Amino acid sequence: MILEFILACLAIGLMFLFWNNKPPNFPAGPAGLPIIGNLHQLGSEPHKTFMKMREQYGDIFSLKFASYNVIVLNNYKDIKDAFAENAFSGRADFKPLKDRSGGMPRGLIFNVERSWTEQRRFALKSLRDFGFGKKSVETIVYDEITELIDNFRKTIGKPMQTQNKFNAAVLNALWTMVTGNRYSHDDPMLQDLIKRLTSSVTQSRAASVVLFFPWLYQLRNKLTMVFAYAKERQESIAKNMNFVKGTVEDHQSTFQKDAAPRDFIDVYLAEMEKTSDTTSSFYKEEGLKNLTVTLLDLFVAGAETTSTTLSWEFLLLALHADKQEKLHEEIKRVVGLSRLPSLNDRPSMPYTEAVINEVMRFSAMVPLAVFHSALEDVTFKGYQIPKGTLVIPNLFCTMHDPKVWTDPETFRPERFLSEDEKTLVKNEALIPFSTGKRICLGMTLAQDELFLFTSSLFQRFKVGPDPNGEKLTVDYHAASVLVPKPHNLVLYDRIEE
Ligand code: HEM
Repeated sequence: MILEFILACLAIGLMFLFWNNKPPNFPAGPAGLPIIGNLHQLGSEPHKTFMKMREQYGDIFSLKFASYNVIVLNNYKDIKDAFAENAFSGRADFKPLKDRSGGMPRGLIFNVERSWTEQRRFALKSLRDFGFGKKSVETIVYDEITELIDNFRKTIGKPMQTQNKFNAAVLNALWTMVTGNRYSHDDPMLQDLIKRLTSSVTQSRAASVVLFFPWLYQLRNKLTMVFAYAKERQESIAKNMNFVKGTVEDHQSTFQKDAAPRDFIDVYLAEMEKTSDTTSSFYKEEGLKNLTVTLLDLFVAGAETTSTTLSWEFLLLALHADKQEKLHEEIKRVVGLSRLPSLNDRPSMPYTEAVINEVMRFSAMVPLAVFHSALEDVTFKGYQIPKGTLVIPNLFCTMHDPKVWTDPETFRPERFLSEDEKTLVKNEALIPFSTGKRICLGMTLAQDELFLFTSSLFQRFKVGPDPNGEKLTVDYHAASVLVPKPHNLVLYDRIEE
């Protein structure tokens, strides 16, 4: 009996030792449990847990998520240096993510190596050149702002939940650029798509357990009676995929190779037409598969992020009436009240830019970006990082680091201005779009959109807390993006008609 007990203790001890055995010359980190590693220690806000771990283990520390070695980077310099390297531009080979794109990495967000380079380069160029369709980004966004202003005017003086009010406008702008079609903001098709895209982002956790245990993921998908949400999720992904496929098929049936492209899909189909290299990610069937995943990726990554940033902005400016007045004053002085602001006004509007920067810093909306992975064995800052290691950039930490920012928990746009408040001052630690090889592909578009929405909406409206509602807070729901908790705001029209 005693011998059995000793053997059992030894076996357990060995298991702990084996599980906490780190690769040679790997960063230090907290010990984990057999099988799950440190997954149980993440809590509901892993970005904050990592900030606490950093106090004990330093800016670069290690963890174990099931069988994956993980390093967490908390300092913006380390993140910049790491992500400048091709070796850190991989993504994890999680089964659920591969299933989403037909069994192998495709598209933009979770694609890797040659296929990713080709798809990313192409999408970047096409979005940058935008203007190949009938309208420029500015004209497309103006259509959305005009409808949004009309809708907002119907709510003047009444409590309104602002969280989901921007999705239709933002998604529609993207939809127009990519597919050439625009919908009315209350169109049931658009509303349905928004619901599915929103839940795909707000319900997914960056370190969801099923990502690390493929058998658990498969079991969950089989036991749909027990895990009803899993079934809903599968159906939602399938619906999104079918919807996008339908849009591509419509384009294929009307595509004319010698005519001017109508939108992104046409440019993509033209690229497929001219691709004869059978190993290219644009070649025939593979090209079509990449196109559908690329479209889904653009909608998933582009719509929820920009509209959630606007929700944060409305909330923060409702809480800081003085900053909101300064913003309105600048818009009135530079643009006036008789026309919509344009991108040409931007260089003359440092306070508006500072507000947007501060909203992005304070909200740190994509707190852990998207996990990277080491494509090969690599030496980084004196550590040896084996191939396959997950690399998590703690963007929340870089933007709330008390060593970098004075009073990081205070909303203060002036921190981005020179002393005379006339010039915008850059801070390298502001990296809401991440940095390096995989920096957000839609960054320029998002920045243009945020400027146009912010300046146009605060030119016209004043926003405040609901005088009869609960006290406003900056509490949020933490998923892979941080979304403000439901709250009511009241809008006031500054322009009498
Ligand atoms: C405020 C708005 C936005 C924020 C804060 C944001 C933030 C991010 C972040 C943090 C990443 C992860 C980068 C990494 O892996 O290191 C990312 C990736 C990406 N974003 Fe954005 N994003 C925004 C808007 C957009 C828009 C408008 C689009 C598209 C139209 C877009 C498309 C993408 C794509 C395709 C990726 C994957 C890039 C890759 O893996 O190569 N994003 N974004």
